Amino acid sequence: MSTFKDNVVVLVGASRGIGEQLSYRLAEQGAQLVLAARSENQLCQVAEKCKRKGVKVKVVVTDITREQACLKLVRDTVQEFGRIDTLLYNAGSGNTGYFSSYSNIGFINQEIQLNYYGLVYCLHYALPYITEQKGRIVGVCSMGGIIGLPGTAGYNASKHAMRGFLNTLRVEMLGTGVTVTTIYLSAVRTETYLKELGEKAAKIPASTPEKAAESIIRAAGKRRREVIPSLEGKLLLITHRLLPGFTEQLIAGSSMNYAKNR
Ligand SMILES: NC(=O)c1ccc[n+]([C@@H]2O[C@H](COP(=O)([O-])OP(=O)(O)OC[C@H]3O[C@@H](n4cnc5c(N)ncnc54)[C@H](OP(=O)(O)O)[C@@H]3O)[C@@H](O)[C@H]2O)c1
Repeated sequence: MSTFKDNVVVLVGASRGIGEQLSYRLAEQGAQLVLAARSENQLCQVAEKCKRKGVKVKVVVTDITREQACLKLVRDTVQEFGRIDTLLYNAGSGNTGYFSSYSNIGFINQEIQLNYYGLVYCLHYALPYITEQKGRIVGVCSMGGIIGLPGTAGYNASKHAMRGFLNTLRVEMLGTGVTVTTIYLSAVRTETYLKELGEKAAKIPASTPEKAAESIIRAAGKRRREVIPSLEGKLLLITHRLLPGFTEQLIAGSSMNYAKNR
């Protein structure tokens, strides 16, 4: 039987990109879905495709950076399904450019709000329900949440915060049956990613949203702790651990420098 059969999954950031593919993979496994994001039309289209796979789907149009919206998301879910088995936090975005080049740094606040506080707000309200079910918490993070990849300082800081928060929560939830899985993705060719990087995207080895979604569902299904799906990501981490100074110089001059058109 599929791991997520009848599992009530709140998927935050479900309207496009990796989140859209996560919705389809979960629907194929028979999960009962709550799909959350801001774009109503896109969400409804994703929901329709999921329903055709025979699962129950609720769409919640919401801006997850507002605490009250997260409370409502949890309340709406419990009202509809009576429980929450899994919170899958996929929403996230980032800007590129060297910190020294920005005249206005307001976007860093937005990155922290979406990539970090949205997760914290959702879990603050959802955790009692997830605990009741001995459920799963799943966070979609980035290699930038482990290593300081240049050109995305605000984004990386928010993903580092996400990592620290989830690592702590994992330990705090020991003995409750609740598990915390964090996935550290390398580049994935979503529309947002291609738009942000432009021509440079072609020079960077990248996965597809479909493959990224599969690796996330696999890791979540097995209740893994922390997972780096790509070979590039694994090699980067090992090199950085062994030779941090050398690796930083290498990154600065490579296609992993998101601020430079190399
Ligand atoms: N693509 C990559 O190369 C890559 C690499 C490493 C990690 N990641 C991580 O993977 C995740 C998905 O990335 P992606 O490329 O698939 O991004 P994406 O295509 O831009 O999708 C982001 C999702 O988050 C939702 N979202 C954004 N702001 C929101 C808000 N305020 N409230 C509710 N939902 C919001 C978006 O929907 P609406 O706009 O409709 O709200 C959308 O569904 C992110 O956490 C990202 O950091 C991506």
